[in-house]
Amino acid sequence: MAEKIAVLLSGRGSNFLAIARNIQSGIVTGCAIDVVLSNKSDAPGLIAARDMGIATAVFRQKDYADKGACEQAMVTLLRERGVQWIVLAGYMRILGADFIDAFAGRILNIHPSLLPAFIGLDAQKQALDYGVKVAGCTVHFVTNELDGGPILLQKVVPVLDDDDEASLCARILEQEHIAYSEALELVVHGKVYVDGRRVRRR
Ligand code: GAR
Repeated sequence: MAEKIAVLLSGRGSNFLAIARNIQSGIVTGCAIDVVLSNKSDAPGLIAARDMGIATAVFRQKDYADKGACEQAMVTLLRERGVQWIVLAGYMRILGADFIDAFAGRILNIHPSLLPAFIGLDAQKQALDYGVKVAGCTVHFVTNELDGGPILLQKVVPVLDDDDEASLCARILEQEHIAYSEALELVVHGKVYVDGRRVRRR
């Protein structure tokens, strides 16, 4: 049976859409997007999911007593739906320890840099400002350390002399759309395991 994925997003949702497309076309197998969650009711990615007939839910911290209560409600919904994998795709909130523990080893994130370089916000701008000659993206397991979990895979792109933030973001994004699907295919089929900081092939 297909493993159930929940996608958490806050904005555009191009990574979500790439994954959805790759599942539909059979590039990614053995899983299905069960639900899309967002902290923003007007996130374009959330609206796209709804238009595609995928279940959606909005969890805004301000509707709950605090961040913990909000994330507990998310966990409850995800458990009720039997979700097995959590895919963070431009989810611009830092998840608390209770949420991460509830899905330990089953939360993935994509970050637009070659980690451990340039964690946090505006990773592509950080790369340009630093002057690196290669950049890229990283798909990693989520732990309590920000952008610090074991790395599933990375894709490298060149940084060109005339790059600005927009051109570098676009070049990296193209690779993100490939990388996330490759990573999903690996975890859903149990082709990798975590050994300390290393993610190894079985
Ligand atoms: C992507 O570039 C993703 O790597 C980044 O947000 C963008 C979301 O785009 N995530 C982070 O910076 C997380 N720290 P999308 O909404 O089009 O998928």
